[in-house]
Amino acid sequence: MTLSVHELFSRRFDGDATSVVRSPGRVNLIGEHTDYNDGFVSPMAIDRQIDLAVRPRDDGQVVLYSGESTTAASFAVDDLARVDSWGVYPQGVVRAFADDGLAVRGFEGVLVSDIPGGSGLSSSAALELAVARALADITDLEWDAVDMALRCVRAENEWVGVACGVMDQMICATGVEGSVSRIDCRDYSTTPVVVADDVVVMVLHTGTKRGLLDSEYNARRATCIEAASQLGVGSLRDASIDQVENSALEGVTLARARHVVSENQRVLDWGEAMEQGRWADAGRLMVQSHESLRDDYEVSGPALDAMVDLALETPGVYGARLTGAGFAGAAVALADASAADDAAQSIAQEFPNRYDSEPLIIPSRPRAGTSLTKP
Ligand code: GLA
Repeated sequence: MTLSVHELFSRRFDGDATSVVRSPGRVNLIGEHTDYNDGFVSPMAIDRQIDLAVRPRDDGQVVLYSGESTTAASFAVDDLARVDSWGVYPQGVVRAFADDGLAVRGFEGVLVSDIPGGSGLSSSAALELAVARALADITDLEWDAVDMALRCVRAENEWVGVACGVMDQMICATGVEGSVSRIDCRDYSTTPVVVADDVVVMVLHTGTKRGLLDSEYNARRATCIEAASQLGVGSLRDASIDQVENSALEGVTLARARHVVSENQRVLDWGEAMEQGRWADAGRLMVQSHESLRDDYEVSGPALDAMVDLALETPGVYGARLTGAGFAGAAVALADASAADDAAQSIAQEFPNRYDSEPLIIPSRPRAGTSLTKP
């Protein structure tokens, strides 16, 4: 029998949790490696989530358990020593609250997650936002989703030490039921792109995990800054494709800039195609995005390429591409709703013949962002 997070809390600690937070993972439909270039992204929150049951404590300690594990991640809210476990994420959030002069308080909790770790579906952003939501509730802070997302980005950049952009935390905090969100990563405004019932988004996790990602990710960011500076613009968001093609940029720098600038345009075109029900066009843009990420940005990998190729051979699939930072982990596909079940089954069956790994196919509707309930 699977116990609810509330039951797990009561078994672990005496009595009941005072609130339960649901915080979703995400998949990005199009707009990859554009967020840290002030560009556009089109993610949605998915049907995979972290549930966190919490209750305040009076001794300034944070004590968190994952599922039925008997080892807690714990730290004091005023302790500056970085913990060496997944507790570094909650600790980063608590530190970011304190750095902003917001009240902090100890709390205890249990979390359960069905977001596969290392898959590129943003389990870390989900955890950060879950903790932020719980802490805001405990300290009576009014919830401002965008503000909190940016605070969690700072936690990840400055405390955890990962130089991510804003996409994952933004969509986890602000996700809208039924819509992909086109986020302008320059001003953080979001525009809903409705996902009609005719189509289904399929998360295609290859079962492989990312390794050695941070250094590659940081190298890509650095090259983008270099390209923008050579083009004489503040960020690649401000460059046109003609400007890039006719510039003095060369080699890898040219290729990276070409990806970012063309990807921004694809995000806008994809949104239009989705709104107008032009599924084949939307799918084609996703394939172009994958090719650009594979050839120009060089962040694909053999498992991701095998998954995308297989998806594109499968009846009912309009388009597929890698999602998230890349290298390994998950891809995403847009499929016809009437064919999606068969497509998911045939991809799950065939993938191990193409790549030595057990895939996980998650058909998903766009879900709402982080939310809190009082049991
Ligand atoms: C990771 C980062 C995001 C974004 C993507 C690539 O998921 O956390 O900020 O840069 O890679 O689009």
